[in-house]
Amino acid sequence: MAKLKPKNKSKKSLKAISKQLRNAKPPIESHEFRERAGIDVVKTKDEKDYYPGLVVPSCTHGKCLLFTQTDPQNPSKVLRWFGCALHRSPKLCSFKCAWPNKTKIEPITKEVKIKTSSRDYLPEKVEEFLSVPPQKFYFCKKCVDVFQTEAHFHPVQGPFKSNSDLLQFLPAIQNDSSQAQYWFAQDAIKLLFDSTESSGIKEYICIGTPQFFKYAKDQGKKAFLLDIDNRFKAFFRNTEFAQYNMINNEFLDERKHFEKFFKGCKKPVIVCDPPFGAFIKALIWSLKDIVEKCPVSMEYIIALPYFLDKHLYRTMPEIKMLDYMVPYQNHPTFKNGKKSPVRFFTTIDREQFKLSPPLYKYCKECKRYVTIENRHCSTCKNCTSRDGLAVKHCGYCSRCVPEKYQHCNKCNKCSFKNRCHSKEEKE
Ligand SMILES: C[S@@+](CC[C@H](N)C(=O)[O-])C[C@H]1O[C@@H](n2cnc3c(N)ncnc32)[C@H](O)[C@@H]1O
Ligand SMILES: [Zn+2]
Ligand SMILES: [Zn+2]
Ligand SMILES: [Zn+2]
Ligand SMILES: [Zn+2]
Ligand SMILES: [Zn+2]
Ligand SMILES: [Zn+2]
Repeated sequence: MAKLKPKNKSKKSLKAISKQLRNAKPPIESHEFRERAGIDVVKTKDEKDYYPGLVVPSCTHGKCLLFTQTDPQNPSKVLRWFGCALHRSPKLCSFKCAWPNKTKIEPITKEVKIKTSSRDYLPEKVEEFLSVPPQKFYFCKKCVDVFQTEAHFHPVQGPFKSNSDLLQFLPAIQNDSSQAQYWFAQDAIKLLFDSTESSGIKEYICIGTPQFFKYAKDQGKKAFLLDIDNRFKAFFRNTEFAQYNMINNEFLDERKHFEKFFKGCKKPVIVCDPPFGAFIKALIWSLKDIVEKCPVSMEYIIALPYFLDKHLYRTMPEIKMLDYMVPYQNHPTFKNGKKSPVRFFTTIDREQFKLSPPLYKYCKECKRYVTIENRHCSTCKNCTSRDGLAVKHCGYCSRCVPEKYQHCNKCNKCSFKNRCHSKEEKE
């Protein structure tokens, strides 16, 4: 292989480059990143068939996942190790335990422990403060606690003289790429609620969807929230919230309240919005485990970038993508729905999700709402666009391709003009 010559780029100072890197937003493609690097996850249940004595190790973030990767240095060798189920970055958790030779590689950095401590349930405290003089209270978003006076070592919000929705003041976690919290815009929450209600859903199992959970609850619906963030303990009782890791299906709280809720379900839906970068395969195992235990049939709505569709269809062929571009109120780019690559994937009849102009239209043939630029293809018998942009059918490729693509006779594939897949062209 020819060595790549470094390009003579404009000379930027190291300081400027490192600043640029620091400010760079984590790419949403990080979902795929490990999968693209050839890293895969293995079900530990399957591994136990070969190693009945296997005890899955834990790091400070709970039960590990078993990863495999073809050795980049030696393609005939497969590397296998137990690693953190929560954090991707070795800076946040560097636990690694080679398997089956059980040599533990000690963490080189200090691990950020998962916070599991109990918290005061604030609505009760608030009620108490409002019933006695001076009948007011203050809220500290750092401590996630309320106080009767302003005298506190953090700046506080207030005074509040009546019951207030304190959850709105809780800052989203943003500094941790594997746990960053992005809240749905109101439009997305309403769409989820209206469509599930019109399709007769009775109960909501909200996994990593606290804002939607809150909305459904406020509308008087039965709902249960499962989320890794234990700050929600201050706002919701243990009969409606449990700290849970959706990647390894581990409850960090008692499971019994959830199980009780679960057993009483008549027509439930799981509404899940995983953190950008989650291992989808492992997430699906967790969801399937919940579904298998459910006495009645269950629907799903999962938010994921459209380009991960194939990963999802492999393990969940029954799920379908909606064209709705999911907006997030606190995401710098995806605030604007048109720029969001996130879509809802669902088992619910897509006709229930009523999307309105100017961004969407109804397709009579598909019986669902699609983006305004999507086009119904009579050959594929579908509105085929994945990213919502215009498509055309290519007879040579026997499929629809983005409108800007051109068919190349050399490699017999469609792609952007002058971008050929054949080897000779590349050299
Ligand atoms: C992208 S946000 C989705 C929030 C949702 N859009 C909403 O508005 O309700 C991801 C959520 O999943 C939670 N989360 C992150 N990692 C998790 C994990 N491993 N297990 C369970 N919840 C997790 C975060 O605390 C956060 O609430
Ligand atoms: Zn860990
Ligand atoms: Zn405080
Ligand atoms: Zn159509
Ligand atoms: Zn087509
Ligand atoms: Zn073609
Ligand atoms: Zn070509």
